[in-house]
This record gives sequence, C-alpha cells and structure tokens, in this order.
Amino acid sequence: MPALLGYGSPRVLAFVRAWSIDHADRAELRAIRAELRGLGASLTIVSDGGTWSFRPDDDAERTTAAVYPDHLEVPRDRDALFVLDADDHVRFSYDAGGSLAGTLGEALAAAGAAIAAKPRPTMYTRREWTLTCLVAGFALAVFPGCKPRARSRARAKEAHVPPPPSMTTTELDVNLRVNGEPRALRLDARASLLDTLRERLGLTGTKKGCDMGQCGACTVLVGGRRVLSCLTLAALADGQDVTTIEGLARGDQLHPLQQAFVAHDALQCGYCTPGQIMSAAGLLAEGHATTDDDLREQMSGNLCRCGAYPNIVAAIRSVKGGA
Ligand code: FES
Ligand code: FES
Repeated sequence: MPALLGYGSPRVLAFVRAWSIDHADRAELRAIRAELRGLGASLTIVSDGGTWSFRPDDDAERTTAAVYPDHLEVPRDRDALFVLDADDHVRFSYDAGGSLAGTLGEALAAAGAAIAAKPRPTMYTRREWTLTCLVAGFALAVFPGCKPRARSRARAKEAHVPPPPSMTTTELDVNLRVNGEPRALRLDARASLLDTLRERLGLTGTKKGCDMGQCGACTVLVGGRRVLSCLTLAALADGQDVTTIEGLARGDQLHPLQQAFVAHDALQCGYCTPGQIMSAAGLLAEGHATTDDDLREQMSGNLCRCGAYPNIVAAIRSVKGGA
C-alpha cells in the first residue's frame, strides 16, 4: 500500500504532556510504528519530559527541541496531534480534549483514516506518467482533431514559456566512499542513493523493491547507520562511507551474517536478502537488541514475501550470540 502522504518529508507532531519513552509499552510503540509506516511519515513527540523523534523503523531519538511552523495553533492546556505534509501544510489535526498518553497509536490510526477518506491531489507514478505521455503522443500523431491548429502553434511560439523550475535539473559533484573505495560522481541533484549505486556504480546487489520506503530491500549503511537508499538522496551522502552488500565479505571470506543466512536457510527467492543482511549488520552495530522480540521489532522494516522470518531471526541470533 503506498504511503498516504507520498514522497518528501511528511511528519506528525504530537504534543503529549505526560509521555516518556521510558513508560511507553511495546504494544504502543508497535502500534505507533505501524501507523507511521502507513502514513509514510516520521513522528516528533513533544512532552513535558522532553522531545523524541521517531522514524517507523528506527529507535526513538531524544532531540533538543521540535521545529514547527508558526501557523500551527498548539493548545496550551491539552494534548494535540498534527499531520503535516512535505510542504508543512496541515493535513489532519486532532485535539485530544485531554491526554493522548497511551492512545497515540489510535490517534495516528484516526489520522490515517481521515486522510485516506479525503480526495487526494492527483499524483502520477513514473509508470502512469510514461503511459500518459505515450497515449497523448499517439493521439496527436494519429487523430487530426488532436493536432494543434497553426494559430495556436504560432501563439505558443510567441509565448515561449520557459520550463517551470521543477522541470529543470541541477547537477552536483558528489564524493562517496563506497565499500572503502572513493567514488567521485557528477549527479542529478535528485538522484537517489539506490539508483546511483545500481545504475551509476553497477552495484546491483542492493535491490529495488517498492522504491518508496516500505520494503527495506534497498537497505545500505551510510556512516555505519542503516538507511533506505531509495529514500536517500545521493547528494546527502556526500563525503560519507557507504557500505553495500558487496562490501561485507572479505575476499572469499563471507561476513558472519552471510554465513549464518546460508547456514540457517534464511531465504527462499533471496530478493529481500541483501536488505535483510545489511539491516541486520546495522542492528548488531547498534547493540540495542537483546531478545528475539527486539530482533523482530528492529528488523520489522525489512519485509520478506517468502516468509523466511523465523530463519532470518535464527540467523541473526546466532551471530549476535556467537553461536
Ligand atoms: Fe523498498 Fe527502498 S526499495 S524500501
Ligand atoms: Fe523471498 Fe525474502 S526470501 S522475499
């Protein structure tokens, strides 16, 4: 299911006076993450005890302060929640009338339902856009009624409208260190890290599943931290170390996680496997997972259509425990 708020950096701001990460239970955190995935948004919780930010598949991080637009009318005496799109327009607001503590997942679900019920602005996927252009081009070539008249052609020439800014491209010099090798690239500023790795550098081990941040197939490490490369601009990784699945083995010696995935039969078709292994490498480096539940929770952004989850958990557990 596509994220309800589409691409960019949509976010949810929740003002919950009595909320703390230390008192949030697992079920609540799971519900919050599931709803954020559906919205395709990050979440910032502002409470009396501090400010936390969440992305659906990362640990909550404590931040110093929340930045929010001036037009947001934040009630002083009760909790509230706002869903902002990538342009900071409020797509949904929820006045709790009291406390939101313990019911954040429900408020996010209400936000998702309300946004899904509203008519969406027309958005085209790349495939739809290409098909539309092909059909329009065919119609123009074949049907006389679709051909522009000479007068309107002349008018269009006179007007000589420059392309809108969104249609112009900007190229940037980007320097990455990919699997230990420096790579100097000149890239379209809009190029994703995933496309850059696969199409410019030929590192096709990193897979493109959904291309919208929902499956985890494209997970790589940037600066040692796992990221979804389909949602990361290559330009934002400038100057950083990028590790892909091709960079894990040492010569003929597979990385322990690669060995464990083989030993535990933790794959069927294997399409999700590079993302699973890179995510597991990041997870082990983070060092937060102590139980199988933690492993499952912290690998929850990596989907496996073949359902190899039990063996994936066993493989990661064996490396974590040195078994
Ligand atoms: Fe699915 Fe990036 S390709 S999350
Ligand atoms: Fe087929 Fe995971 S092994 S999708």
